[in-house]
Amino acid sequence: DLYAPERRNSAGLDLTDRAFVDGLVADMAKVWAKSHAAAPLIGGKTVNGAAEPVVDPADTSRTVGTVVEASVADVQRAIGLAAAAQHGWSLRPVEERAAVLETMADLMERDRVELMALAIREAGKSIPDALAEVREAVDFCRYYAVRARETFAPVPLPGPTGERNELTLAGRGVFAAISPWNFPLAIFLGQVAAALVAGNSVVAKPAPQTPLIAFAAAKLLLEAGVPGDVFHLVPGGPAAGQALTEDIRTHGVVFTGSTATARRIAKTLLEDERRPLVPLIAETGGLNAMIVDSTALPEQVVNDVIISAFQSAGQRCSALRLLCLQEDIADKVLEMLQGAMAELTLGDPGKIETDIGPVIDEAARDNLNGHIEANRSKVLHQLALPAGTEKGTFVAPTVIGLDRVEDLTREWFGPVLHVVTWKAGELDKLVARINASGYGLTMGLHSRIGEAAETVRANAKVGNLYVNRSMIGAVVGVQPFGGEGLSGTGPKAGGPHYLARFAVERTLSVDT
Ligand code: NAD
Ligand code: ALA
Repeated sequence: DLYAPERRNSAGLDLTDRAFVDGLVADMAKVWAKSHAAAPLIGGKTVNGAAEPVVDPADTSRTVGTVVEASVADVQRAIGLAAAAQHGWSLRPVEERAAVLETMADLMERDRVELMALAIREAGKSIPDALAEVREAVDFCRYYAVRARETFAPVPLPGPTGERNELTLAGRGVFAAISPWNFPLAIFLGQVAAALVAGNSVVAKPAPQTPLIAFAAAKLLLEAGVPGDVFHLVPGGPAAGQALTEDIRTHGVVFTGSTATARRIAKTLLEDERRPLVPLIAETGGLNAMIVDSTALPEQVVNDVIISAFQSAGQRCSALRLLCLQEDIADKVLEMLQGAMAELTLGDPGKIETDIGPVIDEAARDNLNGHIEANRSKVLHQLALPAGTEKGTFVAPTVIGLDRVEDLTREWFGPVLHVVTWKAGELDKLVARINASGYGLTMGLHSRIGEAAETVRANAKVGNLYVNRSMIGAVVGVQPFGGEGLSGTGPKAGGPHYLARFAVERTLSVDT
């Protein structure tokens, strides 16, 4: 069964059990008390060099650990080793590669507390978000293992001319895996797991803000049985990413991040005429809208808006950016939204009572605050920042009223929600105006009219449409995730067709 394969999703923890949570936090505090060190991991060995501090966004005077970034020469060496090792890895039975991912899933569950603790301090994730992060990474491994056994089984084809015909899929070569900081384990590992199980060797570059959790995961991959010459980690920023994508020995790129960087990589991949034509699997940002009509239940709308716009401090590509309220219900929803925002707790993400942690760094905070100040006269609601948050890079959750859908022209990656109103009878027009931005990641609809859902479904150009629920938190194998247009090249992470994107297809015909 393509859509419900035999597998289990990673189990959760009971975060409502106070005694259990106190124990969890005490265990994480032991991880926080240590200093962590990340470095390039090339050919199974760590590379020495000058170490830079990795800072906690919730308290920028606190160092979580250090990172040695990869030089361009390190990246090139990693690609060379990966290129030499790929064919052997590709020839291994798919069962072996799938079993390695399943071991990796078990190891991450074993080390869950350490991984959660790093996600909280290094990326500013709340405790529930950190738990979800590890669960998603585990789910990717188990799901792709099941999918790989199916996807990479040879397909016998009819032989009307007396031939034996067979279709097989094989790894492409060296895959560059380039990931963002906002899912520093789940997306980092989801990319790597898919590329590896498809028979590619991998050079992975995590985001510069979050090398520590990536390094912890990289060591677990080696422990799980991935050969040291097949997988390499090159921490660093755009220069390392550029070196990785411009090397013509890289035969595929899987990228998640901003649309601007995806464009840059696409150009790089076409520059050198000696290079084979290679795929770019890109998942990028969105100007995600939620449409609310006058039949919607305001309490449910407000609950889902709070989750969609403000959970993870709005730092999800899926997050709600533009709330479109039908005029008749707008005042009621906005009034209730103000009340619900006042209940949110901002602060140290290592505490269970915290709903919203910091944004990732000072540049992100200043950028978001600049946008809020530029629109000060249009601010409808803003939460006050509590004492203590000045130590970190916190942004006050804010609601900005806009005149038109078209006034939102770019993604603001944080807890800033924009609101517009629309008139009864203009649903079709509204969907068309939202589509016109060119982005197509997520969309939400709140309505008790079945016909409205069908209209939006038929016309919305988005990868993930959510009706009468929140717009975030896609579950692997349940809500395959990814957008279209400016939001990505269309693959669905955690979906049944993803792995084929990482492979070449070959047809064999044998005359007997
Ligand atoms: P970013 O584009 O700045 O960076 C992403 C990665 O690309 C980082 O590892 C970065 O170092 C690397 N990079 C930067 N310049 C490069 C270059 N020239 N060549 C190669 N690599 C380069 O994005 P970010 O700020 O880290 O992440 C936030 C963005 O990611 C948002 O736009 C968000 O919407 C998007 N995102 C999308 C998804 C999705 O699944 N669609 C998921 C999470 C985040
Ligand atoms: N997959 C993540 C979500 O759905 C980005 O929120």
